Amino acid sequence: MISVIMGLQFGDEGKGKITDFISKNYDEVVRFNGGSNAGHTVVINGEKFKFHLIPSGALQSNTVILGNGMVIDPEELISEIELLKKSNKKIIIKISSGAHIVTKMHKFLDKKEESIRSKLNIGTTSQGIGPTYEDKYGRTGIRMIDLSNKDILKNKINTIYNMKMELLKDSIYNDENERNKMVDELYLFGQSILKYMDYTEIIINNDYNNGKSILFEGAQGGMLDIDFGIYPFVTSSNTISGALSTGSGFSYRKVDKVIGVFKAYTSKVGSGPFPSEILNDDTLRNLGNEYGTTTGRPRRVGWLDLPLLRYTIMINDVDSLAITKLDILGKLDKIKVVTKYIFNGKEINYFPKRLEDFDKLKLEYKEFEGWGSIENDKNIINNGYSALPEKMKKYIEFIEDETNKSIDIISLGEDRKMTITKQIFN
Ligand code: IMP
Repeated sequence: MISVIMGLQFGDEGKGKITDFISKNYDEVVRFNGGSNAGHTVVINGEKFKFHLIPSGALQSNTVILGNGMVIDPEELISEIELLKKSNKKIIIKISSGAHIVTKMHKFLDKKEESIRSKLNIGTTSQGIGPTYEDKYGRTGIRMIDLSNKDILKNKINTIYNMKMELLKDSIYNDENERNKMVDELYLFGQSILKYMDYTEIIINNDYNNGKSILFEGAQGGMLDIDFGIYPFVTSSNTISGALSTGSGFSYRKVDKVIGVFKAYTSKVGSGPFPSEILNDDTLRNLGNEYGTTTGRPRRVGWLDLPLLRYTIMINDVDSLAITKLDILGKLDKIKVVTKYIFNGKEINYFPKRLEDFDKLKLEYKEFEGWGSIENDKNIINNGYSALPEKMKKYIEFIEDETNKSIDIISLGEDRKMTITKQIFN
């Protein structure tokens, strides 16, 4: 079985938990986009594991691959590998020789660029993601394989510096000694991670030919995609299922199943239009503990937005849905769902490309009643779908009707055991 799991909103859908839940069914987990901007927390028997680079499926599979589409902060990677090896000792780790390297200079540039953007400030995670992809596409980037050669590293660091001198002139990187220090540090990081480096596109395709099951784990969410998200309030990579091919060297034609994960409501960190946002009321944020895993920033929170979900389902070509945090949403007395976008008097099924047009967007809502607390409900843990509160089932079935997709995985709490699947209990 070859599957890909993708976020369908703004990147905080709870994919980590769903991936961890299904990953025991796969031999190999592959990540193909983004970097330390992602953050996923997996809770196993009360213990929390936080990862940014390592995909969450790695805790339960035999092999983990970081593909060429990623941008990797080597220092962060070293500490995450240590953590991973504590919980999954036998794991095989492979990193693409073509993955790009995030340096401290890129992180500085990320902040600097944000300060210049002023009104169009994105609210990035400050992890150096944008500047590293800029260098990749500008063909000056540092790749994993370059960590083995000090001369190449020095040359590339100086090239990047020369190209971005205007932005770097007030920084420590203006000093050649500091740049040389960075070269030494990167080389040293290389010494501890180069043993994991490989031609991962060959490994993945060989493993496929040998009948292994592979899970591709997308980072971020469809609405942060550089092409299909609400530009410019997006990340610098493609965050849709098709990106697995360019980000790993494996053809999307061989994918059997696209799993799309969405939260029972919507949340977002960073700036930009958020049509279904709930303003001036912190209840849902506090109930859901909606604070960014990577930055700790309070997330903006809103109602489930069906036009948005239908759009990302289309772009990702989703086969099967997974919903998270239904336990949180049910604690509200009244729940709303956006059912339609009306623009200039007509229903639309896309996002305006002109930012000002978001102000003219009118939303239609449907209201539901909350289903109350289901915390540690033994009946649900033992009996699954049939034991769910009727009001919750009504909410689930409404979404299924509106999206024309089946919700096959339902997450009702942080721990693994609070996840139910329809197939098993039907
Ligand atoms: P960047 O990816 O750090 O450049 O940030 C660009 C935008 O994407 C910002 O609004 C971030 O908050 C958002 N973002 C990036 N990665 C994630 C993620 O994994 N979850 C949620 N938001 C993210």
